[in-house]
Amino acid sequence: MTSQRQNTLDNRLDNRLDNRVINYLRISVTDRCNLACRYCVPKGILPSLSHDKIARYEEIHKIVMCASQIGISKLRITGGEPLMRKGVLPFIESLSHIQGINEISITTNGVLLESNIDKIVESGINRVNISLDTLKPERFKFISGKDHFKTVWRGIMAALDRGLSPIKLNAVILRGINDDEIEALASLSLTYPFHVRFIEYMPMGNSDVDISQQVLIPEIKDRIEQSIGELQPVTNKSFESINTIQQNEAGPARRYKIAGALGEIGFISPVSSHFCNQCNRLRLTSTGKLRPCLLNNREIDLLTPMRQGASDDDIKEIFILAVRSKPASHQLNSPNIVDTQMSTIGG
Ligand code: GTP
Ligand code: 5AD
Repeated sequence: MTSQRQNTLDNRLDNRLDNRVINYLRISVTDRCNLACRYCVPKGILPSLSHDKIARYEEIHKIVMCASQIGISKLRITGGEPLMRKGVLPFIESLSHIQGINEISITTNGVLLESNIDKIVESGINRVNISLDTLKPERFKFISGKDHFKTVWRGIMAALDRGLSPIKLNAVILRGINDDEIEALASLSLTYPFHVRFIEYMPMGNSDVDISQQVLIPEIKDRIEQSIGELQPVTNKSFESINTIQQNEAGPARRYKIAGALGEIGFISPVSSHFCNQCNRLRLTSTGKLRPCLLNNREIDLLTPMRQGASDDDIKEIFILAVRSKPASHQLNSPNIVDTQMSTIGG
């Protein structure tokens, strides 16, 4: 390539947007899951995509190589349930060798955590986020359709024993289902070094949850302060004033600590107080589409051009298009419904 064309390309390949560097890619490696959580999967029969529609590992690897060259440095592997896909841990290991990638984490439901913990540690995964909506086995079965609470809890303990840190536990609170466990879940942060995060239910696709069951963060926060103690902010610095590594650590959660606790409590409030102007993420769906915003239906197909012979520079340009297409704000509070199912994007 001539140096003039390279310069023009370099100018176009700028992954900054306003005050942010878009450096975080969430990769869904499968639409399949071994649980069927009622707030996540569609009501009724679970669709499952055929293999040829799903991006192959070599294809994702190539996408990440290109992405790393335009500033993506952090990856999160999601699903469906990422540990369900055969060969995922050696694949993640291969991603960890890509120059410029300095953090890889996974979000898992924890069912396959204990049985894979050695391989997870060896694969170069820096940390895990685990869904945990209840501490009651019967209720776990009601929410997820499977009687796997004990297996998940053993998985969480295995991650703790192996020193993965921080371990973030994600709880989606739903009225009449698990809202009586806010205090018990928050209290886990007193005795374990967990980051317990409360997440507002995001109505997407066709889930089995009614909007009236949504519990917003201000209510959750009040309940914790009244029953457990004052929530002290972990950091007061504004997103704009911190560096990229700190922005990655901050994530979407507002972080707090109860005095003397080993862990933290986090609040993820896409509904009551959205964090769109701080979002530094892109998503790659399991079908190889780039999604500029979780809560906006727009997706940009990357897999089809790749299968038709797109060059590395073409791939990088599609990435930058996705960066430029990040909307100023999500669609959740607008009349446009987000019709994609959460289970196919991986949160
Ligand atoms: P780290 O900050 O890297 O630990 O990741 P995370 O908290 O973003 O990841 P995780 O997969 O554990 O997601 C926790 C919750 O945050 C899930 O309910 C996600 O759907 C939600 N979430 C993550 N990223 C976004 C985002 O860009 N927009 C919105 N609205 N929600 C998000
Ligand atoms: N609203 C909010 N959070 C959700 N998750 C899945 N579906 C929803 C939803 N509709 C969360 C799960 C998981 C994370 C990746 O996304 O708790 O931990």
